[in-house]
Amino acid sequence: WSSVRRPRSAESRQIAQTAGQIRASTFKVAILGAAGGIGQPPSLLIKMSPLISGLHLYDIANVKGVAADLSHCNTPAQILDFTGPAELANSLKGVDVVVIPAGVPRKPGMTRDDLFNINAGIVRTLVEAVADNCPNAFIQIISNPVNSTVPIASEVLKQKGVYDPKKLFGVTTLDVVRANTFVAQKKNLRLIDVDVPVVGGHAGITILPLLSKTKPSVTFTQQEIEELTVRIQNAGTEVVEAKAGAGSATLSMAYAAARFVESSLRALDGDSDVYECSYIQSELTELPFFASKIKLGKQGVEAVIGSDLEGLTEYEQKSLEALKPELKASIEKGIAFANK
Ligand code: NAI
Repeated sequence: WSSVRRPRSAESRQIAQTAGQIRASTFKVAILGAAGGIGQPPSLLIKMSPLISGLHLYDIANVKGVAADLSHCNTPAQILDFTGPAELANSLKGVDVVVIPAGVPRKPGMTRDDLFNINAGIVRTLVEAVADNCPNAFIQIISNPVNSTVPIASEVLKQKGVYDPKKLFGVTTLDVVRANTFVAQKKNLRLIDVDVPVVGGHAGITILPLLSKTKPSVTFTQQEIEELTVRIQNAGTEVVEAKAGAGSATLSMAYAAARFVESSLRALDGDSDVYECSYIQSELTELPFFASKIKLGKQGVEAVIGSDLEGLTEYEQKSLEALKPELKASIEKGIAFANK
């Protein structure tokens, strides 16, 4: 999945194979909202991972058929399906990574914040169940507005006494995937080589691609920077409008979610060279939650890579200051919801 896939892991697996010691796939992943537009395609991609032994699919409806279909793929992960609140707890037992795409998607004309009222309650209920049944799992929130649903999840976990900020992630991988794609197209680069850090949050102007930190090093005109930044920020709306009422970005999101899950599994498996951008509890800025590049390890966030925020261009610095009030308001809205 990853343009930042590291050679070390491939090397170590090669060595293990040579020595006849291939490690059995051991990790279990649960997807909550698995029958939806976003839930289904990453379930397929994650089913292909050699690192998982079990894939638990939970939804309030229509999950049996998805599970029957997926279970015919001859990859190691065993598929189990769970329908409705009575089966939620069982879907989470023994799970290492929980992915949450449950909720309603945007329709044309809606912002991610318009989803707040419905999705906030869904995320609260699901995270309560995670706290009760697999409190040590990595929790990956896809349900929008991510800027608020992650703070909601953190409050719920605190209320349950099991909050580990290193294991709670807002999935912003799609912003990086889009930034990499659009920059590679614009600059005629090999996609596999391109890595653009995207920081801030996951809605509108809170999505801040740091184009000056693009690897490989590349120069942009000011006009290119402004056009690319706006395109990356509005790419979700591009898809929502093209689908004209039939959902939001699901396939590119599936790719991004599967990449983040695979990175997490590699980190859990002991790979010591796994980096992704994610929206997490953070001390990088004065905001309590902030997306930035992180290093993933067995215990979750092993390090926050702050160096991307050093030496920003004037445009990036201004954009960073401009996003803070909106992101702060979204965080406070989430925290207030969880505590009311
Ligand atoms: P969808 O409507 O196709 O699927 C949502 C699924 O959630 C349905 O299967 C529904 O039955 C299920 N669901 C609803 N309430 C539930 C509950 N209480 N427990 C378990 N499952 C429940 O919507 P889609 O397109 O899959 O989008 C899902 C979410 O992902 C939306 O909030 C959307 O905004 C968000 N999203 C996030 C992105 C990101 O980059 N983080 C990108 C695109 C969308």
